[in-house]
Amino acid sequence: MPTFSEDALGGESVVVTGATGGIGWSVAERAAKAGAGVLATGRDTDRLEEIDDRLAEVDASGRTTTHEADITNEAERVELASKAEQMGVTMLVNAAGITGSRTDFEDLSQHEVAEILDLNFVSTLRFTQELYRSMKDRSGGAIVNIASLSGLRGTYKSIPYCSSKFALVGFTQSLALEAIEHDIRVNAVCPGWVDTEMGREGIRSKAEAHGRAYDEQLERELDAIPSKRMSTPDDVANAVVYLLSDASENIVGESLKISGGSVLR
Ligand SMILES: NC(=O)c1ccc[n+]([C@@H]2O[C@H](COP(=O)([O-])OP(=O)(O)OC[C@H]3O[C@@H](n4cnc5c(N)ncnc54)[C@H](OP(=O)(O)O)[C@@H]3O)[C@@H](O)[C@H]2O)c1
Repeated sequence: MPTFSEDALGGESVVVTGATGGIGWSVAERAAKAGAGVLATGRDTDRLEEIDDRLAEVDASGRTTTHEADITNEAERVELASKAEQMGVTMLVNAAGITGSRTDFEDLSQHEVAEILDLNFVSTLRFTQELYRSMKDRSGGAIVNIASLSGLRGTYKSIPYCSSKFALVGFTQSLALEAIEHDIRVNAVCPGWVDTEMGREGIRSKAEAHGRAYDEQLERELDAIPSKRMSTPDDVANAVVYLLSDASENIVGESLKISGGSVLR
């Protein structure tokens, strides 16, 4: 029975979407430190250049690289998947995501609903499908979807985001049942507040919706967390690397909460 070790992903290759963002970057860095070849992807080319340099500093595999792709664009998804296949990728972390604004239900536009569901659910599913075929051919792999506590319970004035994350959790569980027949494990993590640009923006928009100052809203949010702190991107990345590794070999279709005890049920 494998136990978790520092080189837990040695010999593996992983694609990380949303690697230009807070959580995705931390996952890419930790996976590279754990010995994996990493294909880090996002749309921001300046950030991808920085990531190339920073990954080179921690790359134990000699196989880390970056690739610009908009996951909502089919041609770009196919190109990214083909690059991943050439790299022999057997692992995928879906971290790309958007939240949208806090909107009253009756004011939600078709565009906003479609845009959020497209990236967070439909295009994420379609990209996973592209890679799944080659994972099946290689008979094994692991997929981790970055969902959210918003995929487990409703959140205030956040219907498209919340719905997209519930869909992602449902996708995780359904695919897990099918994929395990091919020795591919599929899991999700469900973070609460994470200290990234997206997390801070979420608190800012909640403050606005309630007519409060940012600091007051932040204090309220921290007060509601039993551990009294937001998660860091590394808190999430550590859990993701564990779920990718053989040390979690019988964990299948799970939605792991990372929230300092915010939702204890
Ligand atoms: N932060 C939180 O409090 C929190 C809590 C729970 C769950 N999450 C989830 O964790 C994931 C990462 O969040 P984060 O906090 O790291 O957010 P972030 O820093 O805003 O990063 C979002 C990432 O998504 C990428 N992205 C957006 N649209 C894309 C598109 N069309 N194609 C490809 N990539 C796209 C961005 O790439 P570019 O910038 O290069 O476009 C960026 O890398 C998201 O799925 C989010 O829902 C976050």
